[in-house]
Amino acid sequence: MHGDEPLGFLLWHKYQFWVRKRANGTPLAYVRGYQDWHGRRFVVNKDVLIPRDETETLLKHVLESSEQRAVSSILDLGTGSGCLAIELQRAIPGAEVLGLDISKSALKVANQNAQILLPSNPPTFRHSNLLGIISSDSHFDLIVANLPYVPADLEVMKEVRQEPHGAIFSGHDGLDHYRRLVQELDTKKITFEHLWIEFLPTQKDAIKDVFKDYRITFKADVAGNEFFALITAVDTHLQR
Ligand SMILES: C[S@@+](CC[C@H](N)C(=O)[O-])C[C@H]1O[C@@H](n2cnc3c(N)ncnc32)[C@H](O)[C@@H]1O
Repeated sequence: MHGDEPLGFLLWHKYQFWVRKRANGTPLAYVRGYQDWHGRRFVVNKDVLIPRDETETLLKHVLESSEQRAVSSILDLGTGSGCLAIELQRAIPGAEVLGLDISKSALKVANQNAQILLPSNPPTFRHSNLLGIISSDSHFDLIVANLPYVPADLEVMKEVRQEPHGAIFSGHDGLDHYRRLVQELDTKKITFEHLWIEFLPTQKDAIKDVFKDYRITFKADVAGNEFFALITAVDTHLQR
């Protein structure tokens, strides 16, 4: 754009710095400080997972399934940058949206995004280890839980290795977080109408096993890979 205009000294050094970072495997989103997702620009830094394309498809499924029913309480478990909580709050403005994360530094980014992108109606963000701060017998119309699901020894790209370990990996088969979630839902008698999760298509059978006491409907991304599941209670007494 600037033709033959010479680069100033400072800009040249900044440029060198950014290029070196990128060459060392720092994801472009961290170099730029943002990621465009679902038509909005989310602030990201090394404390949060970079919102993924597949999670946009998860959001699409969630919104489609929420069209026909009243949704007034929403829990976004493992909110990270806050992308799902913010876009759910925008789409369903009357709902009470609560985003939880174990990482305090991720919650700072989520709050920052909410202040920039939805200042008039931001979701609430709270620090919590899974459902730790949720009272027993609570009910949510909708829970979205994009928790870490990558097996600990899976080889990942060097860019992914620079994202927070605790946002990605979850035990030997990647399903420790979902197993703990099922346990906590059960012991705290927390009920929901719809629970949506994301995982790897290769984990489908293991997911069926983890959620064996629930009804489960698998959903695919645009390429037909089943990355998502809608979980509902089998027993009507578990629903309100
Ligand atoms: C896969 S990332 C998803 C982030 C965001 N929801 C998204 O879709 O881009 C998982 C998130 O769960 C959080 N997390 C990991 N363990 C957790 C726990 N025990 N309790 C609450 N959040 C947890 C991580 O800090 C991370 O932000």
